[in-house]
Amino acid sequence: MNSIRYIQHKPFLAYFTGLLESRDYTNEIKALEVGCGPGHFSALLKDQLKDRIDITAIDPSQEDIQTCASHHAAVKYRATTILDMDPERYREHFDVILFSKSLHHCDPLDETVEQAHRFLKKGGILVAEEFNPDAIDEPTARFFFNRLDLLRIGNHILQPAIKSESFLARWEQMIDPKSGPPVERWASIFNRKAATNLFKHGLQGHHMSSHGAMITSLAKAFGSGDESVVKAARNQPFLQCNFVLFGLEDTPIGEAVVEAIIAQEASAIKDGVINGTGVSYLVEKQ
Ligand SMILES: C[S@@+](CC[C@H](N)C(=O)[O-])C[C@H]1O[C@@H](n2cnc3c(N)ncnc32)[C@H](O)[C@@H]1O
Repeated sequence: MNSIRYIQHKPFLAYFTGLLESRDYTNEIKALEVGCGPGHFSALLKDQLKDRIDITAIDPSQEDIQTCASHHAAVKYRATTILDMDPERYREHFDVILFSKSLHHCDPLDETVEQAHRFLKKGGILVAEEFNPDAIDEPTARFFFNRLDLLRIGNHILQPAIKSESFLARWEQMIDPKSGPPVERWASIFNRKAATNLFKHGLQGHHMSSHGAMITSLAKAFGSGDESVVKAARNQPFLQCNFVLFGLEDTPIGEAVVEAIIAQEASAIKDGVINGTGVSYLVEKQ
């Protein structure tokens, strides 16, 4: 589990396992990961908690689920969505449901969140790990691009193995240091329209939800509309995932770079130099 595809998940893994530890489960934890993609996070989680957790990990992408099977034999990977899971079989079945950077993709949002509420036991929790676009200010964008540009000069950024033409056009722009000052450079690549085009392949639906919409939806299902039931853990390092997405080499050097970027990001966030771009929403079923 040394690939950069695992290492990028370390900050969220630390947050998530800390959260589970704090809840003192006495029985095996029944967990569902929604939108697991190629499945590295569930594999790490299973590896860490072993028999203390039973994980079902789902994603609508058949291709991703096929690669998942090689990650951890003891995780039940399934090509499906939460809306296609049997509402009676899974009613009040899970202790924890995790949307790993996927809730904003789940369309329709309200039905997805209601189904998750239905599938949780009383006292069960839903966690949604997300990237927070509002956290990108000038110092944060500069932190990101300064490192990206140096890595590119050192030939550590390679064209990612993603065939989408719109992604590759964005990628060319992304790694071009002449494409503008940091915030404009970020906005031209990661604006909502670009992101929609980037991820709009196959089964992912055409609508991506904003943070406001996700909070409203969680509050509706878990708190009769009261938004104070939605707890947000902010300031988690997340930029390392963007280096991985945008072509950092998956070699021992790349692994050391991801570890270093996570550490640099954590200390820059702690010192108030940049914003944490990761946020996790947490709600509990009453
Ligand atoms: C940004 S990727 C995150 C992948 C992985 N969880 C990670 O952390 O790297 C978003 C994932 O959500 C999945 N997805 C899209 N629509 C979905 C839906 N309706 N239900 C579940 N997953 C969905 C996509 O196939 C994709 O794998």
